[in-house]
Amino acid sequence: MQQPRKLYVKSFGCQMNVYDSQRMADTLAREGYTETQDPADADLVILNTCHIREKAAEKVYSELGRLRKAKQEAGSDTLVAVAGCVAQAEGAEIMRRAPVVDLVVGPQSYHRLPELLRAAGKGARVVDTEFPLEDKFDHLPAPTRAATRARGPAAFLTVQEGCDKFCTFCVVPYTRGAEVSRPAAKILAEAERLVEQGVRELTLIGQNVNAYHGEGPDGRTWSLARLMEALARIDGLARLRYTTSHPRDMGEDLIAAHRDLPQLMPYLHLPVQSGSDRILRAMNRGHTREEYLELVAKMRTMRRDLALSSDFIVGFPGESEADFAATLDLVRQVGFAGAYSFKYSPRPGTPAATLDGQVPQTVMAERLFELQKLLEGSKAAFDEACRGRTFDILLEKQGRQVGQLIGRSPYLQSVVVTTPPAAIGELLKVTICDVGPNSLAGQAEDVAGQDFSAPSRPLAAMEA
Ligand code: SAH
Ligand code: SF4
Ligand code: F3S
Repeated sequence: MQQPRKLYVKSFGCQMNVYDSQRMADTLAREGYTETQDPADADLVILNTCHIREKAAEKVYSELGRLRKAKQEAGSDTLVAVAGCVAQAEGAEIMRRAPVVDLVVGPQSYHRLPELLRAAGKGARVVDTEFPLEDKFDHLPAPTRAATRARGPAAFLTVQEGCDKFCTFCVVPYTRGAEVSRPAAKILAEAERLVEQGVRELTLIGQNVNAYHGEGPDGRTWSLARLMEALARIDGLARLRYTTSHPRDMGEDLIAAHRDLPQLMPYLHLPVQSGSDRILRAMNRGHTREEYLELVAKMRTMRRDLALSSDFIVGFPGESEADFAATLDLVRQVGFAGAYSFKYSPRPGTPAATLDGQVPQTVMAERLFELQKLLEGSKAAFDEACRGRTFDILLEKQGRQVGQLIGRSPYLQSVVVTTPPAAIGELLKVTICDVGPNSLAGQAEDVAGQDFSAPSRPLAAMEA
């Protein structure tokens, strides 16, 4: 029997980074670790890091500084591990800059955590940033029922990892390596287990998820559409999503899946980065503005209620006012329901970092402000248009007030439902009655003759 120990794990990155954190916790659960939300209480702290922009990468060093101080003050012997994409990109540098770190482990090696920790526990400082030939997923234990329950009814499932696209601004092909698709049978087995443990919604994740081309149980290569068709047959799995997709890999069968699979939610994250052909070319995105707009139009004919979100970078080297205006224009044309937008951050080792025409910070800040204003307006307009509409809401967690549950709409909007006639993990028909900046509020439809949609009378009126 292992002695009980406590693990604190913090994710700094994308959904895959969050998924990886969960799998690390699953792996360490076998070693006797239970999770804690308090780093001061932990025997092991894992920072699961992100290298995508300079700010994200720098966060880890400030967090390590805080940990060092806390460790000194408490005189504790907490082990500190750095995992994720900064670990992969700058393992040696972390060891040099942060003596508090006992272990550095890259995203492809975390199935080795138990043995690496044993070495680190003996006082050695350990770095493992290999891309081993073995499949880490074969070595990762499944989550326990309790862990799955605690994570809620909407789960992530990695189907593909790595990227061969080499956009000129991006570190992912270097930190995550080449594109690898997991075999479909293993994904199906993992999905079935999660659904059996109470999961109702799966988001298939990959850095280039729609480039998925895994080995099928029939010996053929399966596309993402084929995989989702098989997943949709799992009894009890109510919703499917996938992210992040690249416009270049939206195959005909995937577009058709949006029409044919009722479980596939009508919300697609389709990063475009820029609306200027010149910049798209310099970014090596592999498609034009027109091709993106045509793709969006085609998808909307397949699924009329489809909404889109996207990612944008402002201030890519050489971006002129006209290029930026083209991005604003594309945003107006598409009308996104959500978006992430960033100032370009030069990343060491990427081709764009050494290009001429780096855009000054002040210009980037102005452009980001303008773009975000437009995107926020576009999102607000979409949310407002949801008022009065009735959606299936997947109830995910308790709300702040007694009797409230918070769920997600098909469009990933957070919806607060008061005294719903249903529990966490259930889908409920809800009519949207209020729209706030961060969430919507809704009323459950009549259930079995009871009128849940009637506004509750204020206390004073009841006493009268
Ligand atoms: N695979 C996805 C994106 C992964 S990275 C795709 O191809 O779209 C997530 C987002 O971070 C990107 O879409 C991009 O908008 C942003 N990003 C990546 N590298 C960046 C950089 N160097 N500077 C600023 N933003 C960046
Ligand atoms: Fe990065 Fe481009 Fe690959 Fe996306 S497609 S992960 S932006 S290189
Ligand atoms: Fe960041 Fe790595 Fe994800 S760099 S965005 S954690 S793939």
